[in-house]
Amino acid sequence: MSCSTILASIRSLLSSVVHPFVHTDFHEAISRMTFIDCFLFFIVHFVDKLGIWPKLPVFLGLFYLAIRRHLHQKYNLFNVGRSPVGIRFNPGDYPYRTDDGKYNDPFNEVAGSEGSFFGRNILPDDGGDRKRKLMKPDPMLVATKLLGRKEFADTGKQFNMIAASWIQFMIHDWVDHLEDTEQIELIAPGAVANQCPLSSFKFYKTKEFPTGSYEIKSGMRNRRTPWWDGSVIYGSNAETLHRIRTYKDGKLKIEQNGLLPHDQDGNAISGDIRNNWAGVSTLQALFVKEHNAVCDALKKEYRDLDDEELYRYGRLVTSAVIAKIHTIDWTVELLKTDTMLAGMRANWYGLLGKKFKDTFGHVGGAILSGLVGQRKPENHGVPYSLTEEFVSVYRMHSLLPDYLQLRDINAAPGPNKSPPLKEKMPMPNLIGHKGEKTLSEIGFTKQVVSMGHQACGALQLWNYPWWLRDLIPQDVDGKDRPDHVDLAALEVYRDRERKVARYNQFRRALLLIPISKWEDLTDDKQAIKTLYEVYGNNVEELDILVGLMAEKKIKGFAISETAFIIFLLMATRRLEADRFFTKDFNEETYTKKGLEWVNTTESLKNVLDRHYPEITKKWMNSSSAFSVWDSPPQRHNPIPLYLRIPS
Ligand code: HEM
Repeated sequence: MSCSTILASIRSLLSSVVHPFVHTDFHEAISRMTFIDCFLFFIVHFVDKLGIWPKLPVFLGLFYLAIRRHLHQKYNLFNVGRSPVGIRFNPGDYPYRTDDGKYNDPFNEVAGSEGSFFGRNILPDDGGDRKRKLMKPDPMLVATKLLGRKEFADTGKQFNMIAASWIQFMIHDWVDHLEDTEQIELIAPGAVANQCPLSSFKFYKTKEFPTGSYEIKSGMRNRRTPWWDGSVIYGSNAETLHRIRTYKDGKLKIEQNGLLPHDQDGNAISGDIRNNWAGVSTLQALFVKEHNAVCDALKKEYRDLDDEELYRYGRLVTSAVIAKIHTIDWTVELLKTDTMLAGMRANWYGLLGKKFKDTFGHVGGAILSGLVGQRKPENHGVPYSLTEEFVSVYRMHSLLPDYLQLRDINAAPGPNKSPPLKEKMPMPNLIGHKGEKTLSEIGFTKQVVSMGHQACGALQLWNYPWWLRDLIPQDVDGKDRPDHVDLAALEVYRDRERKVARYNQFRRALLLIPISKWEDLTDDKQAIKTLYEVYGNNVEELDILVGLMAEKKIKGFAISETAFIIFLLMATRRLEADRFFTKDFNEETYTKKGLEWVNTTESLKNVLDRHYPEITKKWMNSSSAFSVWDSPPQRHNPIPLYLRIPS
């Protein structure tokens, strides 16, 4: 008997023993798994059934997450479009990040470039009557009954307005769908018409392109480069980059007052300005300063470098600083548990930790020394892209409040370094062109201190800002469009239009136990009643955005577990698929000084300290720049991280 026949027999025996204990919805999925993966799935599934992974001791929690990530890397990455085969170019000819994201993956020069396809984590929801699916239940009804803000709910001290701005700053680095020229109109249904800010609104369809492949026949394209390449400040093509460079010593344009410069129409000059607000503009300006400081340091160290070389090294270093802050600072505050602290640090530094890596370098592979600096990029056989599902779980507009609470920075700090409140600025005054003007009156310091001291909105039902339901959207060049949109309803429509699975199928496809009744989703009686009003008993119809907002949260998580699983997979992928975070994360590609810059920058606070030391000294009490600044600094915990048990 051959080895494979023996394995097949063991597997069928194992399946027949465990099938009764496995949720029936997964029987088909496990029939497609390898023997080892079936075994790994059983572990994950039994832990899920007990609902205990967040409560496991840190080292066991990490083990659970590692197994899950492995399964998703194998079963939740689908290529969209056709990929070229064979050696394509010599990566040595491109030791820098190109302006349009090409030439990163040595086997596929267009992977991750401007205009490349969005990938998929879940096969498109293609079945059934499309037209009915697009409109049922009516997106404006869903938005009004389940999303629209009733009363502002915030995240307590966990996450502040800098954190909310940061994630939009990242979205503007990673994703934006290309649109069609054809317009669609949504009309408010009678039942909620008098509660909708717009009785109808028009918007452009998402543009679909044939892929030339059999499995997924059509796909959407990304206007932004999905690599973590800082395109939010550098742009996703040569034309944008040209506008922002000074062509002197590698530097980018910035005003004396530390804010972005503007063109004659009042548009900010930066990598991506579409649908920006003052918070994002402030971060763009801060990282232009960071880029310019890197260029200064490199010029001082290596006198021979010309403008182009300085720009290229500056971009590599600044992009890596952004990626690192996101990994070990922002995400740690978003998912505030010891297991996630350990997991995110392991992604960057490995289980052996920073001290070991700083001393001995990258040894023993990704698990011990982290994804960053590993020997070669890893895309798990699927060319790198961000995915439709990734976009869906990042629909986090509920993070935004109705007002920015402007602080008086000329007064003496109050308790825990908090500045007195001066004025409540309505958010609509801070978006688009008006926002840029308002920001120039507020100034960098007051804007940052105010955002630092204000909690952002919670990601839950009935917390979607009303002002985004009557919004002037912008063109790619930052020009206002004539047609206002109801962004909440539009988002519900977008997920359906892009064939993203609805909530329950989304969970199933991610090997998460699906719900069978509304009570499985939430304990909130009012939510259950309204879900029933909108969807009846049909839990399969629940929209992904609504499900993500309604789901009971894991303690310490600002997002749902369902969204988190996409993060687990894609946050890793952004690092490990990228040549400049793996094989080329070295002194040769970054310069010695450049690599040192990345290795010694650990947080957004470090960047703020570099450029505005007086801000953090005077106004920041918290340890992280992403938690509310008057909260107490992190207390030392004597228990070693991997041995901690979540409370
Ligand atoms: C004042 C701030 C913001 C404004 C004015 C704004 C506006 C918009 C608009 C007009 C769209 C395009 C809608 C469409 O046609 O499909 C959009 C898409 C999106 N926004 Fe925001 N947004 C803001 C903040 C945020 C924040 C804080 C997040 C948090 C992650 C976010 C995440 C997204 C995502 C994921 C998309 C979908 C992108 C795509 O379709 O590829 N936005 N936003």
